[in-house]
Amino acid sequence: MMKKKPEDQVLVIFGASGDLTYRKLIPAIFDLYIQKSLPDRFAILGVARSPFSDDSFREKMADGIRQFASKRDVDEENISDFLNLLFYLSINTDEASDYSKLKERLLKMDSDYDTKGNYLFYLSTPPNLYPLIPKFLAEQGLNSEDGKIRRIIIEKPFGTDLQSAKELNASLLTDYDEGQLYRMDHYLGKETVQNMLVTRFANGFFEPLWNRNYIDHIEITASESLGVENRGGYYDHSGALRDMVQNHLMQLVALVAMEPPSVIESDAIRNEKLKVYQAIRPFTEADIESNVIRGQYLAAKVKGQPMQGYREEKGVDANSRTETYVAMKLFVDNWRWSGVPFYIRTGKRMPTRVSEVVVHFRPTPLKLFPENEGYVSEGNVLVLRIHPDEGILLKTGMKIPGAGYKVKEVNIDFHYSQLQDTYVPGAYERLLLDAMLGDSTLYSRGDAIEETWEIVQPILDYWNSNPDAPLYGYPCGSWGPECADSLIEGENKTWRYPCKNLSDDGIYCEL
Ligand SMILES: NC(=O)c1ccc[n+]([C@@H]2O[C@H](COP(=O)([O-])OP(=O)(O)OC[C@H]3O[C@@H](n4cnc5c(N)ncnc54)[C@H](OP(=O)(O)O)[C@@H]3O)[C@@H](O)[C@H]2O)c1
Repeated sequence: MMKKKPEDQVLVIFGASGDLTYRKLIPAIFDLYIQKSLPDRFAILGVARSPFSDDSFREKMADGIRQFASKRDVDEENISDFLNLLFYLSINTDEASDYSKLKERLLKMDSDYDTKGNYLFYLSTPPNLYPLIPKFLAEQGLNSEDGKIRRIIIEKPFGTDLQSAKELNASLLTDYDEGQLYRMDHYLGKETVQNMLVTRFANGFFEPLWNRNYIDHIEITASESLGVENRGGYYDHSGALRDMVQNHLMQLVALVAMEPPSVIESDAIRNEKLKVYQAIRPFTEADIESNVIRGQYLAAKVKGQPMQGYREEKGVDANSRTETYVAMKLFVDNWRWSGVPFYIRTGKRMPTRVSEVVVHFRPTPLKLFPENEGYVSEGNVLVLRIHPDEGILLKTGMKIPGAGYKVKEVNIDFHYSQLQDTYVPGAYERLLLDAMLGDSTLYSRGDAIEETWEIVQPILDYWNSNPDAPLYGYPCGSWGPECADSLIEGENKTWRYPCKNLSDDGIYCEL
């Protein structure tokens, strides 16, 4: 972890009685506490409507820490010391008048803990409160920096479409500067996602090859084995395009495709990412029909266990046409990437949880060596594995010892787990620390978020105005609709399948 310590401050979490606070935020802050990365004078104020006292809130959070903090230092003494930093305030978060109570409590905490009027607000509430809470804070003057820290972290989803994202940006920017706003995309907090920048720009041999002359196509997969769990009601109004593609997958596209920044600094990096989004070819109706495939999971047995289909899930409309899977081919129309297809896909109830970026290099100009069962000279493949088993894998051809030139595909493989002595911080841990330090590099900038919504909006509009547009069923435990294979054109080309279908059924159908 960085040695620099954040300035003294209070972290105010709105939505403190919710799931994210319990499972992710407080355990991550506890991990920072163990690393001694928190400010010298620091306190956390949990805010929500539920009637917790400081003590009952601490009790609940202790339980979350025991379950979800990084395992190595969870001992009861550390937990009980940490809990002294936690406080709770019950207010009606959607009532402007209640915010004077919050201000009063913060002033008291400043005088008790010498936190100097520095506040970091974390919005972990339902998204309809994202414009309201900052406005109510501003009405109490809690937005005004004047030498103090006044920052806001905004959880996903940032808008539900282009229009709402623009409105949310505009509303936030009425009372805050862009520099005070930290839009969360937890993918960016993952070490291996950040490592994509290092792999590309700290190694001289990748960069000269990283373009249309040497790369045939790029493939990005983010699959989940889980279904919608207890979030059916929310998910049915969202779908995979909004939930995964507009944010997480677009981040990965930008990190693979961006130009080297002039310095490793927030705006320099974010400017380069924005240029990638601006260069993505807008989807026409014809592109959507041929290059975007949506699917929905169907009931099937996975390893002998029956799994229900999406439409049977709690909170989901029995005739829902919400996509739980989406795959698409897109192009980044710039000098470096002209003509190189990017294939991206994401889905629920797939055989495994995996996130990876696969760079397929062009084959050698001449096939000198005979192909055989273990070797097809289709070009080298570089796999940047984000999850699980984080690391980098390069597939190369090597000679099998003995007479002749029999070639075998072998892996040059690096696993993060080999860095045994290095502590790998979790995504929320890293991102929370960055926000406390005032480093927004790994947060999304407002203009980039709007640009990513620009990219997906034509698809949302098309599906909305053509409800009968194909929606393909795929059995739970499979890699999605079979027709998604047709997106990747060319002999011997297919998606990379990190593991086999687990479904006992082989049904694929149009819904
Ligand atoms: N959970 C995750 O893994 C995850 C991941 C990524 C993003 N997010 C996002 O983070 C946010 C919080 O997620 P969550 O899973 O913690 O949600 P949740 O469990 O439903 O919690 C929502 C929180 O907001 C509070 N709240 C305040 N005013 C509210 C109001 N008017 N109506 C309803 N609730 C109100 C609730 O507390 P009271 O009812 O006590 O007021 C509760 O603490 C959501 O926007 C979600 O999309 C969550």
